[in-house]
Amino acid sequence: MKVTFITGNQHKVKEARGIFQQFDIRLEQVDLGYPEIQGELTDVACYGAKYAAKKLGKPVIVEDAGLFIKALEWFPGTYSSYVQSTLGNEGILKLMKNVHDRYAEFRSVIGFATPKTEPEIFLGVVGGNIAHHEKGKRGFAYDPLFKPESCDLTFGELTIEKKNELSHRRRSMESFAHWYEDFVENKD
Ligand code: IMP
Repeated sequence: MKVTFITGNQHKVKEARGIFQQFDIRLEQVDLGYPEIQGELTDVACYGAKYAAKKLGKPVIVEDAGLFIKALEWFPGTYSSYVQSTLGNEGILKLMKNVHDRYAEFRSVIGFATPKTEPEIFLGVVGGNIAHHEKGKRGFAYDPLFKPESCDLTFGELTIEKKNELSHRRRSMESFAHWYEDFVENKD
């Protein structure tokens, strides 16, 4: 089985290839850029998938993800991309100075669409805590800040294989992969 992943983020592609390996799904990447409307992760993923499927004339997936911190009223959330490139991880740590409740979630939404069908969405969430300092050089963006539940290390300290066992992306993509197996089987 093959699926086209619309993204310019090579880290996401590498993680997705690892996750899809066990499902025998081959990933093709297309860095197509799509309008990122303002809204929930689900709105962005749905709109992006529909747009890209129509533009390329084939089935695609897009992913929208973000870091949601409870004590900051779930900020940066849907602003994660903007906040990463402006405040960065140091800025988040400043906002979290003297904050006792460090609970946070990474959320990932996969949108799948074909040129002829309405989008399907798949959600993945992993709970955890914001570390007091950046730790680790692996991964990308917020990874050095986030310690998944039941783990003493940040995503930035984990190998890609270990992150792939625990991550929000693993959960959304696995849920998509199960559904996609049936979809492909019953297509014709
Ligand atoms: P995007 O819009 O899905 O690309 O993600 C929004 C922001 O969250 C971007 O700054 C991403 O780099 C960041 N982000 C998304 N997924 C992850 C992750 O798995 N680890 C760390 N940061 C992430």
